[in-house]
Amino acid sequence: MQKYLDRIEAYLQGCFTEEQPQKILFESMRYSLLAGGKRLRPVFVLAFCDLCGGDSEKALPFAAAMEMVHTYSLIHDDLPCMDNDDYRRGKLTNHKVYGEATACLAGDALLTAAFGQIAAAQLPQERIVEAVRVLSNCAGPLGMVGGQILDMDAEHRLCTAQEVYDIQSRKTGALISAACQLGVIAAGGTKEQQQAAEQYAEHLGLAFQIRDDLLDVIGDADKLGKATGVDEKKNTFVRLYGVDTCERMVEKETKTAIDALSSFDKPDFLISLANRLIHREN
Ligand code: IPE
Ligand code: IPE
Ligand code: MG
Ligand code: MG
Ligand code: MG
Repeated sequence: MQKYLDRIEAYLQGCFTEEQPQKILFESMRYSLLAGGKRLRPVFVLAFCDLCGGDSEKALPFAAAMEMVHTYSLIHDDLPCMDNDDYRRGKLTNHKVYGEATACLAGDALLTAAFGQIAAAQLPQERIVEAVRVLSNCAGPLGMVGGQILDMDAEHRLCTAQEVYDIQSRKTGALISAACQLGVIAAGGTKEQQQAAEQYAEHLGLAFQIRDDLLDVIGDADKLGKATGVDEKKNTFVRLYGVDTCERMVEKETKTAIDALSSFDKPDFLISLANRLIHREN
């Protein structure tokens, strides 16, 4: 894990360092991008690339692209017009430091730059096109953005379990799915491997968001780097089923995620990562 994290951190540190008149935009992008998240999505890219026998050095631009799209989603998610949060990754949220207009633009710029990263990767063209297709699907109106609007719309009413599932698989599961698939794509893996990565991500993504919602209730704001107790109006499985049932759901979904890796040769790292996330505290 540490080796992956060091390579990802070094790569991201080198991004958006140009001397430009729009210095403030670059500064606000780097403020959130380098604020020290868990870097799970880029780790999934590199780990799935290695798992499929690829050269994960060449997958670094795909990994960086995933972290850029994820960071943009967080900047916008924290805006006053959305979740209105003041802290993220242990620091003031982007709009608290740079103002709402710059925060919007920093998010826009990160999203756009992510596709530039993918296009510039030193990989065969058909892999680049497939990566663009997958990330666009997973991040866009049918994926993360679609999930975010369903999540906001649901604040005004009580959802069914199916609706909560649909919100979570889009707003969180979709980007995790993109990350796992991009790793397989970078390696030139088979369609079957891509489908297995998608299966792993679907269940792990659900476990991940349920744990996020649990931490809003039972977590520690200092460890999380963001406020707790802010999801009262949100439709979550924790609200539907309570803490104990949700802890069991996280375990069950993680187990199903791990089962999806059975066709791979050495999935040990991705198995232990999934298991560690069950009890994560941040
Ligand atoms: C937070 O994601 C938003 C969710 C999808 C739950 P992470 O928990 O991966 O956030 P960072 O990247 O570590 O800050
Ligand atoms: C996050 O959901 C989903 C996205 C950012 C796309 P949350 O709103 O629960 O994430 P946190 O709790 O603010 O990190
Ligand atoms: Mg939100
Ligand atoms: Mg939020
Ligand atoms: Mg949350």
